[in-house]
Amino acid sequence: MKNRIALVTGGMGGIGTAICQHLSQSGAVVIASYNRNGDHDAAKTWQNEQQQLGYLVAASYVDVTNFDSCEKMIKDIESEFGHIDILVNNAGITRDVQFHKMNLTQWKDVLQTNLDSIFNVTRHIINGMIERRYGRIVNISSINGQKGQFGQANYAASKAGVHGFTKSLAQEVARRGITVNTISPGYIETPMVMSVTKEIRDKIITQIPIGRLGKPEEVARAVGFLVAEENGFITGSNLTINGGQYLT
Ligand code: CAA
Ligand code: NAP
Repeated sequence: MKNRIALVTGGMGGIGTAICQHLSQSGAVVIASYNRNGDHDAAKTWQNEQQQLGYLVAASYVDVTNFDSCEKMIKDIESEFGHIDILVNNAGITRDVQFHKMNLTQWKDVLQTNLDSIFNVTRHIINGMIERRYGRIVNISSINGQKGQFGQANYAASKAGVHGFTKSLAQEVARRGITVNTISPGYIETPMVMSVTKEIRDKIITQIPIGRLGKPEEVARAVGFLVAEENGFITGSNLTINGGQYLT
């Protein structure tokens, strides 16, 4: 993927950082989008850390829940880098609570961040990919979008929606040299999973046949596989990475 231009949303988070590092190592020009509540200094610090580790990653601010913010980010990237070849829709949040106690904000925040974001970002990129007859899109879903999870009616609904989106768009753009796939990670060791109480987390680990949480790098390698130029025949698929916790 030498010199391919890649945008990773949520690129400074647990899984996002590993994806940026992997794509950068594979020769892509990588842009990590961040939100950080507008803390641009925190983003600069992340960038400097990556540079010290040997990864040159550009950064672009966005609120993925906001269509106009996504348009601005993509216009800025296009004016600096020309176009986007690879898109990894990775930004996401949880607001775990049983449904009978869930409020509208907890529902909307999760749906807007995890599902509307995919529209907001991809919509501004797809026409350019169609014109150039090349693109690789990977959407990060979740094991819990497949099986559901106690306390995650909002999150599971948003992540299940990602599958429908992927399979539909994959069919629409298949003839234009663009692939669209989903990755469904199981429980991966990142801040998102570490925010679940240790007691519940330990119980979850007992349900994983491999006996441990996954690593962000394990997801990143799968992204690298799906966005490789030579893997143009894989589209509309869902790759699970869950240590055997849920088998479909
Ligand atoms: N199945 C059935 N009952 C359960 C349960 C489960 N999995 N978990 C809890 N309960 C029951 C408890 O036994 C308890 O029952 P009693 O009242 O009869 O004693 C009751 O639910 C407790 O309910 P509360 O609403 O008071 O629970 P809480 O506020 O302490 O916690 C919760 C609720 C926040 C949803 C908590 O259960 C939780 O964090 N669960 C884990 C959710 C999870 O897996 N999140 C994944 C985050 S990481 C991620 O999302 C990444 C990814 O894609 C994998
Ligand atoms: P994380 O470390 O919390 O990263 C999530 C990222 O999403 C953050 O970098 C955050 O950006 C970004 N984000 C959130 N709201 C945003 C907004 N409004 N605008 C722009 N960016 C926003 O969590 P993670 O575990 O790496 O999760 C990455 C993806 O994998 C998510 O989609 C998650 O649902 C999915 N996933 C995770 C697991 C797991 O076990 N960890 C399993 C399955 C699926 P800033 O930090 O810049 O604010």
